[in-house]
Amino acid sequence: MISTQRRKLLAAGGLGALGLWALKPGAKGAPHSPYFSELARAIKLAGIATPTLVIDRQQLRNNASKVMAHIAQRMDFRLVVKSLPSQALIQDITSITKSRRMMLFSLPQLGLMAKGDADILLGKPMPVAAAAKFYQSAGSAQQDSQQDFKPEQQLQWLIDSPERLLQYRELARQQALTMRLNFELDVGLHRGGISSSKMLHEMLEILQSEPRLQFSGMMGYDAHVAKIPDLPGLREQAHLHAHEVYTRLANEALATVESGGAPSEKQKLVFNAAGSPTYRLYDGSGIQNELSLGSAMLKPSDFDLPGLADLSPAVFIATPVLKVPEKFMMPYGVEAIGNVARGLDVNQQKAAFIYGGNWLADPVSPSGLSVSALYGNSSNQQVLVGSGNQQLKVDDIVFFRPKQSEAVLQQFGDIAVYENGRIIDMWTVFPATA
Ligand SMILES: Cc1ncc(COP(=O)(O)O)c(C=O)c1O
Repeated sequence: MISTQRRKLLAAGGLGALGLWALKPGAKGAPHSPYFSELARAIKLAGIATPTLVIDRQQLRNNASKVMAHIAQRMDFRLVVKSLPSQALIQDITSITKSRRMMLFSLPQLGLMAKGDADILLGKPMPVAAAAKFYQSAGSAQQDSQQDFKPEQQLQWLIDSPERLLQYRELARQQALTMRLNFELDVGLHRGGISSSKMLHEMLEILQSEPRLQFSGMMGYDAHVAKIPDLPGLREQAHLHAHEVYTRLANEALATVESGGAPSEKQKLVFNAAGSPTYRLYDGSGIQNELSLGSAMLKPSDFDLPGLADLSPAVFIATPVLKVPEKFMMPYGVEAIGNVARGLDVNQQKAAFIYGGNWLADPVSPSGLSVSALYGNSSNQQVLVGSGNQQLKVDDIVFFRPKQSEAVLQQFGDIAVYENGRIIDMWTVFPATA
């Protein structure tokens, strides 16, 4: 006879199993949609068989046109180069934006972009030794296009503190350089910059002590406004705060510059604001007169934000499937764990090993694939698990969507450009430097 105790245990076990069964996820996923089937076909036709970054040129151009339609000439547009690090990509976007304004964040990229009629604003303060290096190599530039570039008119260094300003003043004096300096404002992001009137006035005084230094405007980046938790009113409050700080400090700077006897440069001063996540918050009615954007053009997944809802993803990573085992298996010694995982979750029943992996990206097509938390990551041959609904075979193409474009774009060599069902071009990227 079964004891009451044992009967209770069996009943509890039965209920537990029923609970687990009820919690079991359903099979997810499907083969490629027509869009990704076409893209995979184009990639194979182009003979691409290694992990490759693909840009959908139509989507890219649609995004650029939409961004420009929103800005509607109410403000100037500045392209954020670090988020789009390829000369051909930049040129393609510029054919729509028609702006020669660029925001740069790296010394090697500055070396590449400081040519022709480019109008460059640094997006971060450079160590003064890096600025000195720029003038050193600009002085020895052999190419005509670089010789055409006039840093004293076309380049604005970003200055975040009185200490750095003193260093730049020293550099200007030592090397007899005329420098345009743009002041970084802390509008709430707390990544540095001017945070008080006192600091601003101290810096304006240093600047006015040296005629070689020219005040060129201000930059206040407010990405936090779109990224802080969406608690009622919090983002709105952060935007109002950013706007108030910017307006107050910019007006104070203008008043000082004008009273300092310098001719009013108000028309020419650059009051830069925003980035992809926040550009829709500006309509040109404030003192800010230009917006800088980069990532929105390609819309990687970190930019799936309400302000960018009308834009479409334009960048993917394509990689071939190398192996499709019968079933998902954990390595020898822990195979039992794989058996349990397969039993509990139909979406871990099948596996596909791909060429490469471990990118700052998520698998998007065929849908329903995921990285195995049990098996772990690999930069060499990443395993993806799924229900089998994806019907993957060896040599099929799997697509990932990058989380960001910055840096990721530089990990794959030339970018495959997709348009009208074909790979129409390969765009070289800037070398992966910082
Ligand atoms: C100063 C500044 N402005 C603008 C941007 C916007 O770049 P994106 O549009 O690529 O987000 C950034 C991004 O880091 C930034 O640091």
